[in-house]
Amino acid sequence: MNRALMNLWYRFGTPPWVLGPREELMSFVQARALRPGRALDLGCGEGDNAIFLAQRGFEVTGIDFAPAALAKARAKAERAGVAVRFVEGDLADPAGLRGIEGPFDVLVDFGTFDDLDARQRARCLDNVLPLLRPGGRVFMFCFEWQPRWWERLVGALVGAAGMVRPGEIEERFAGRFRLDCVERKRTDRTLIPATAVYLMTARENAR
Ligand SMILES: C[S@@+](CC[C@H](N)C(=O)[O-])C[C@H]1O[C@@H](n2cnc3c(N)ncnc32)[C@H](O)[C@@H]1O
Repeated sequence: MNRALMNLWYRFGTPPWVLGPREELMSFVQARALRPGRALDLGCGEGDNAIFLAQRGFEVTGIDFAPAALAKARAKAERAGVAVRFVEGDLADPAGLRGIEGPFDVLVDFGTFDDLDARQRARCLDNVLPLLRPGGRVFMFCFEWQPRWWERLVGALVGAAGMVRPGEIEERFAGRFRLDCVERKRTDRTLIPATAVYLMTARENAR
């Protein structure tokens, strides 16, 4: 979505994905499939996942292009009494990650990658993967299904369709990552019929 619209949404409302730290991420941390280290939360929004990770011993940086989201995230972190670095930046802009220094042990993407259009997805990976250390992990939650005719139309008109198609994540990360786990779920919601969670580990040559 357009940055200005997204910012207005955060500024004057509460987007529907602001639901506190998300179960899908918490379960991986609680099971120690994700262990404390330096974490970068891509499209951190109001910061609930970033704050959860900080409370579990991660050193967290959250990046988002919506300053209104970051203002709320900073206030929440302060109320929670944890230190999280929140940075304004555009994941799809080569200069957007200026000031963020790797290496990170974990990249967390909860529902951001699937919001990007195809060109932004490629640029985002070009920007963030060099920040991950060899052996580092990527946690990704995304909407995932084969786009229906109206979603293909929306995608053609506005660029991003809001979901990844089955197989896309494997293709985009192929060779550079080991796929440790993928959990796919169907829902009973017409608009969001399925979700997926990926956990991947960077091979030595992930760059
Ligand atoms: C669906 S929301 C998810 C937010 C958060 N991860 C959560 O789970 O609450 C996607 C987030 O990505 C941010 N975003 C979208 N495109 C972005 C971009 N190109 N660069 C940085 N942030 C972006 C949006 O502002 C929004 O906060």
